[in-house]
Amino acid sequence: MNNFTFYSPTYFVFGKDEENNAGKYVKRFGGRKVLLHYGGGSVVRSGLLDRVKTSLKQEGLSFVELGGVQPNPRSGLVYQGIELCRRENVDFILAIGGGSTIDSSKAIAAGTVYEGDFWDFYMGKPVTKALPIGTILTIAAAGSEGSPDSVITKEEGMFKRGASGEAYRPAFSILNPALTQTLPPYQTACGITDIMAHLFERYFTNTKDVEVTDRVIEGLLMTMIHEAPKVIENPNDYQARANIMWAGMMAHNNCCGVGRDQDWASHDLEHELSALYDCAHGAGLAVVFPAWMEYNMHHDVMRFAQVANRVWGCAMDFQHPEITAKAGIRAFRNFLRSIGMPQTMKELGGKEEDIPYLAHTAAYGNGNNGTLGGFVVLQEEDMANIYRLTL
Ligand code: NZQ
Ligand code: ZN
Repeated sequence: MNNFTFYSPTYFVFGKDEENNAGKYVKRFGGRKVLLHYGGGSVVRSGLLDRVKTSLKQEGLSFVELGGVQPNPRSGLVYQGIELCRRENVDFILAIGGGSTIDSSKAIAAGTVYEGDFWDFYMGKPVTKALPIGTILTIAAAGSEGSPDSVITKEEGMFKRGASGEAYRPAFSILNPALTQTLPPYQTACGITDIMAHLFERYFTNTKDVEVTDRVIEGLLMTMIHEAPKVIENPNDYQARANIMWAGMMAHNNCCGVGRDQDWASHDLEHELSALYDCAHGAGLAVVFPAWMEYNMHHDVMRFAQVANRVWGCAMDFQHPEITAKAGIRAFRNFLRSIGMPQTMKELGGKEEDIPYLAHTAAYGNGNNGTLGGFVVLQEEDMANIYRLTL
């Protein structure tokens, strides 16, 4: 196991109706003037936004609001949010929605207290200072409610890039699984795929003797395989929603990534797809991740065979571990298909002739250094080959 530090200061509030206490938590974490930030309207239609406003008023807190965050959140709205926060002397940002809204909130939080262009953070500058953020999560997926990350698309050039820093960890996050019951099955499945992808990005590592985190990841993956069909079958299954929601947080606050090198090439390859075709992040991962596995399996075939055996229940063939490894990848693909996820780039609107552009942007766009991945280091040609496997 590698040396590590782990700081996860977020105060989690989990359970039914907890959004009605939002005002209390904003106050507790120092907010006086709040920006309510949300997406395209689901929180308005469900009545959640009104309940949160009532809760803020009960605590005597004033607020301004900015809706309209799109999935794959854009830089344009971030600039608007920064201007609004400065003009209104906002000192706390409350994100109500999914990963896109939370990530947009984080970018506004950092940009408001920074003199330069907030995009500097998405070019690699660590985020050390930001307004405090609270979240009320409505979809189990990105894990941004507990992570130090934010992913934004810059409209100029359509670069989708991430920024990181401890200042991006939310002060509090309210997780009420019942709020996720209004999600359409496709979005639910995209979220499940993203959660599993966060686990696989950490599982495929060159670090030895990481039994604790291996086993935690395997347990979370098995939980997803067990709970996912229940919510696809019955969107109102509160207990299954609850298990998936907490798994989503655990998958990405890095409690199961500490002490080990991680990969993340599949995420980077996917970000090019959602930047170019505006597909859902989870759907892009459903296409890319199995292809990445197939392409890189021989780098450490025993690791692929291990997850196939322990998580997917494939029989271990010690003489020919590649047979077990391949069976595991097949099981993953079948699972994704069973929850309604796409299998090919075409289903996302992708075209073969775009592959050179996708690979080149993944490798060199926005100041990237030409390689991706920590488990297997990919060159531009490998990236193109992986995209080709998704056709
Ligand atoms: O915009 P509204 O109207 O709210 O609708 C949203 C949106 O259309 C809808 N939705 C959310 N909750 C709902 C609901 N509809 C009905 N009922 C509800 N309860 O779902 C759609 C997707 O929302 P979005 O926030 O985009 O989903 P998600 O949480 O999957 O976030 C995806 C974004 O997070 C980034 C992705 O790249 C993508 O941009 N990621 C962020 C990470 C992080 N910050 O740590 C890590 C991830 O790997 C990921 O890259
Ligand atoms: Zn993700």
